[in-house]
Amino acid sequence: MKNNHESSRRGFIKKLATTTAAVAAGSTVFAVSQDSDTKHFAIQKRSYIGANDSINMALIGAGGMGTGDTITALKVPGTKLVGVCDLYEGRLKDAKNRWGQDIFTTRSYQEILNRSDIDAVIVATPDHWHQQISIDAMRAGKHVYCEKPMVHSIGEGPAVIKAQKETGKVFQVGSQGVSSLGNEKAKELLKDGAIGELNFAEGFWARHSPGGAWQYPIPADASAATVDWDTFVSNTKKRSFDALRFFRWRNYRDYGTGMSGDLFVHLFSSLHFITDSFGPNKIYSSGGLRYWKDGREVPDVLLGIFDYPDQTQAHPAFNLSLRCNFADGTSGNTILKLVGSEGAMDIGWDSVTLRRNKNFSSDDPFFIEKMKQAGTPLSDRKRILPQEEYTFAAEKGYMGGPYDHFFNFFHAIRTNGKVAEDAIFGYRAAAPALLCNDSYNNDTAILWNPEKMQLIKK
Ligand SMILES: NC(=O)c1ccc[n+]([C@@H]2O[C@H](COP(=O)([O-])OP(=O)(O)OC[C@H]3O[C@@H](n4cnc5c(N)ncnc54)[C@H](O)[C@@H]3O)[C@@H](O)[C@H]2O)c1
Repeated sequence: MKNNHESSRRGFIKKLATTTAAVAAGSTVFAVSQDSDTKHFAIQKRSYIGANDSINMALIGAGGMGTGDTITALKVPGTKLVGVCDLYEGRLKDAKNRWGQDIFTTRSYQEILNRSDIDAVIVATPDHWHQQISIDAMRAGKHVYCEKPMVHSIGEGPAVIKAQKETGKVFQVGSQGVSSLGNEKAKELLKDGAIGELNFAEGFWARHSPGGAWQYPIPADASAATVDWDTFVSNTKKRSFDALRFFRWRNYRDYGTGMSGDLFVHLFSSLHFITDSFGPNKIYSSGGLRYWKDGREVPDVLLGIFDYPDQTQAHPAFNLSLRCNFADGTSGNTILKLVGSEGAMDIGWDSVTLRRNKNFSSDDPFFIEKMKQAGTPLSDRKRILPQEEYTFAAEKGYMGGPYDHFFNFFHAIRTNGKVAEDAIFGYRAAAPALLCNDSYNNDTAILWNPEKMQLIKK
């Protein structure tokens, strides 16, 4: 493992020298500029292949993300929206107003699956419906774009993987960051040894607003007449109609997957894509309900600690720390950072910032004394220099990770090709997020075999 990494370590320096030389020679491949100690590079935007045919799709779950996903999907050439399914009348009306009165709408996703003119579905329901609808859709011959997290509980993953294998349908999970130029650049930089040997990663989400903390508005007409509540709870605990549970489902464990299933899962997806990792083998979490005491069943501050084992040919053993705070006074921040022996990078969907130490010389008196005692000559004491900083930002006009993720999905359908986030990838990203909840709820560390995707009994 070490050798594998060490052989690529100097690759970054070489590549950088070539790139800088190309720029000096007037190449348009990269634009680079420098202010003070930061060098700026442009990540070249993609070119996309056009389409001669049309893929007909339907949306199942026409809320916030489903609507956003469909708007993005329709920007990809050669796509058409045929039907929309939702359990709330208001969303079906909105869909007709947005996409045309001739759109087929229904409360029953089975009616969508029964239609022979639909090739692909977007599943953007609350988490507790992802598994069943995805499997039913693939078995009905539809390609599926399923929102993250792929499943609602750890035991649900294998059946999705099985359905994908057996049907051969294209199945993509919706952590759109994995298709972004920023994540791709980070993967390349890591491979080239830009941060040396990876030993630590961290990520966080900080929010401080009612919307950010999932206190969504309840429509004025919400009632048992406008909402198909019986279907909503038909695969979980039966309760009488509760608009809060329906419209703020993230706060309740029967339907949502808490902060880790909602947000950490994005960080796992990106991290696994960048490092080619299967995931952690030990998961521990802690947290509490500190601020949004509105009857929710999930914490609003959550910390997760994850041990990643050495994975030959992919990465050395490293540690990951994740946190999420919905009452963070600084608010509005998300970050994914990878730290190695020679530098660190902050990774976004459109950009990467890389920092590397220029030199290292200890001025620790204890260390100097030890060196003297051992008779080891000390090199000249060096000044502490500022870190080298490089920014890599997508060129103007880049369509963005969400577009690339859908382009990737439709392209795989047309070419019978691979998607960025298939069922195995999606399960490996969802599993540590779901186990993070299990660790919190059961107050215990959890052992997981990320390669075999199995729990390990302690
Ligand atoms: N990839 C991302 O960045 C991202 C962002 C937000 C949400 N999401 C995911 O998207 C999904 C939806 O989240 P949201 O914020 O849009 O929620 P939402 O509440 O706004 O929308 C969910 C919709 O699903 C409908 N629904 C519920 N059960 C259904 C069923 N059985 N059949 C058909 N429709 C049903 C609801 O009526 C609602 O309109 C979640 O899984 C969430 O994790 C992903």
